[in-house]
Amino acid sequence: MTRRLKRLRDFDISLQIRNPNFIRPPRDGQRNWLLNTALDEFAHHLIHLNAVAQKFVPGADASLQPDHWTEDDPADEQIMEEWQRPIMQAMADIVTETHGDVLEIGFGRGVSAEMIQQRGVASHTIVEVSDAIIGRFQRWRSHYPDRDIRVIHGRWQDVVDQMGRYDGVFFHTYPMSEDEYLEQVVRSVTFAGHFFPTAARVLRPGGIFTYLTNEIDSFSRAHQRLLFDHFSEVTLRVVDNLNLPQDVHDAWWADSMVVVKAVK
Ligand SMILES: C[S@@+](CC[C@H](N)C(=O)[O-])C[C@H]1O[C@@H](n2cnc3c(N)ncnc32)[C@H](O)[C@@H]1O
Repeated sequence: MTRRLKRLRDFDISLQIRNPNFIRPPRDGQRNWLLNTALDEFAHHLIHLNAVAQKFVPGADASLQPDHWTEDDPADEQIMEEWQRPIMQAMADIVTETHGDVLEIGFGRGVSAEMIQQRGVASHTIVEVSDAIIGRFQRWRSHYPDRDIRVIHGRWQDVVDQMGRYDGVFFHTYPMSEDEYLEQVVRSVTFAGHFFPTAARVLRPGGIFTYLTNEIDSFSRAHQRLLFDHFSEVTLRVVDNLNLPQDVHDAWWADSMVVVKAVK
């Protein structure tokens, strides 16, 4: 049994490795270095989370899952709360960098769709599952009769074969059932992770992918590694000073979020 104990002012970290071949490079010194690096990083992360947690808003006592998809015309705030606007702008700026063909998954209120159109793109394809939201889309689309804006009505998982090839992909959906919530949020590195293979498949070489990361101010290593399984280059930007209400309903409590640009 290998044991390590790291004592800090506010906490101890204790590591016990039962398998003698676990993390076993050629030299013991190399193993020590890897284990110490892991413990130092974990300690650093905890200390940082302690600071971040002090700035959290309490949030509302609401279900983590939105419940609006059965409603005929959900209110704006039920679809996406206002505080997300700066994140939408940062993501729209990223996905339109080439001003080429853009695929957007999830129309919602159309806030990001509007930003994408304002930036100017060759074409804009939107995938949306909800009938009520499709009504919103049609009303919004009527303001742009001469633009190349297309819609694919369906769950993105069911319409992949209707997608083309794109220079930018913008992904912003949420889990639609308890099962999806467990699989895609609780048991995953990041919610959008289940879409990474599809994003990589529909992007042209050099194409750009962005999504709502749910990372406060840096990326976890697991998140980075998952991205590098599908993309060649990753750029991060922290959008801060988010104006979260104390009773925020979206499952987010920090006043910043990392926005990502992943290049195929
Ligand atoms: C948070 S909203 C998007 C907000 C949008 N970015 C905006 O700025 O208004 C998420 C949208 O994704 C849609 N959606 C959820 N799951 C989906 C899926 N599997 N396929 C297609 N659309 C989906 C929802 O109906 C909803 O319209």
